[in-house]
Amino acid sequence: MTKQQILSAFADKFGQMSNDKCQMANPTVYASPGRINLIGEHTDYNGGFVFPGAVQQGIMAVIRPNGTDIVRACSLDLNDSAEWPVNDPQGPQSTCFRFVYGVARELIERGVAVKGFDTVFAGDVPLGAGMSSSAALESCFAFGLNEQFGGSVSKWDMVLAGQATEHKYIGCNCGIMDQFASVFGQKGKLMRLDCRSREFEYFPFEPKGYRLVLVNSCVKHELAGSPYNDRRRSCENVAAAIQALHPDRKIETLRDCTWEDLEELKCKLSIVNCQLSPEDIQRATFVLGEKDRVLAVCDALLKGDYEEVGRQMYRTHEGLSREYEVSCEELDFLNDIAKECGVTGSRIMGGGFGGCTINLVKDELYDAFTRRAVEAFEAKYGHKPVIIDVIIGDGSRRID
Ligand code: GLA
Repeated sequence: MTKQQILSAFADKFGQMSNDKCQMANPTVYASPGRINLIGEHTDYNGGFVFPGAVQQGIMAVIRPNGTDIVRACSLDLNDSAEWPVNDPQGPQSTCFRFVYGVARELIERGVAVKGFDTVFAGDVPLGAGMSSSAALESCFAFGLNEQFGGSVSKWDMVLAGQATEHKYIGCNCGIMDQFASVFGQKGKLMRLDCRSREFEYFPFEPKGYRLVLVNSCVKHELAGSPYNDRRRSCENVAAAIQALHPDRKIETLRDCTWEDLEELKCKLSIVNCQLSPEDIQRATFVLGEKDRVLAVCDALLKGDYEEVGRQMYRTHEGLSREYEVSCEELDFLNDIAKECGVTGSRIMGGGFGGCTINLVKDELYDAFTRRAVEAFEAKYGHKPVIIDVIIGDGSRRID
């Protein structure tokens, strides 16, 4: 959808001017992207490292203050509309509007004087593909409402407002990666974020001779109220048990734990006063391994060693599938096809339970791999997966 198209949809819905009080206000268009993540899955809420980048697909929203205390919102993709008082304690029930409602509330908590506004929004991030369509929506409104209502919150506050929306209004206890990538993304660059200190650096990503391609299984993933929160709880319980063994140290997350700590915990499980299951330990094992893999990938990228990057991606897939148990049959099948075709690296991307694999593919293998993935998948599952070429794009912005 172009800027002109969404502006004309806004004019159809709300007219050129919505209210005498704001005759001077022109509707403004904002955009915020979905994301990919090269490596570092389920590490963000464990204080670890992630390696995301923004993509070209995203959410676009037209926003115009309407001089009242009512929000009037319309989702073009869902062909649905809702209205609610900005300070309504309940807010709308339909998920896509709850994101908008939640972000507005979170900005108000952070000191932005959000009042009523009219908005129309639409996007091209495939829903449930693990590309963070919801973070794109949250970040778009965090950025746009902050600007429209004269706020001066930082980009990090926008990220945190989006994350808090997931926690408080949607029920998904997600980490910080998706909102961070959507707000801070830069064209052509991946970002390595330390989720504990929130320090990050941009990594130009121009792998000569390779491409990143997503294969969307179109198995819908839905993180809210899902086993995602259970995984997070397991990690927190293991970190707490290790803290109990070491009262002299400060252990906030698994980031602060070593392989030795985990081994010690395994030996002392019967004497630690907690109810850890073998699954909890297995999940923590994945997280510690993933922490090491992100650092190995950073080293390999600095040396231009894409074969090593690819090996680590396969290991991550293995861990996500067997240890963390967030894969599904279709994603494992796509991973096997990638291996058979000689693809350099392939793995589940995002939270899991469906969605996409991310693949690092040599240029000369691209055609054969994508053809084979589509044909073999369709033959087995009766529907075609969708191939998405990754182009790393910019983060949240106003479209002038
Ligand atoms: C989802 C969450 C993120 C992150 C990933 C897994 O996308 O929103 O915070 O935990 O899963 O890496």
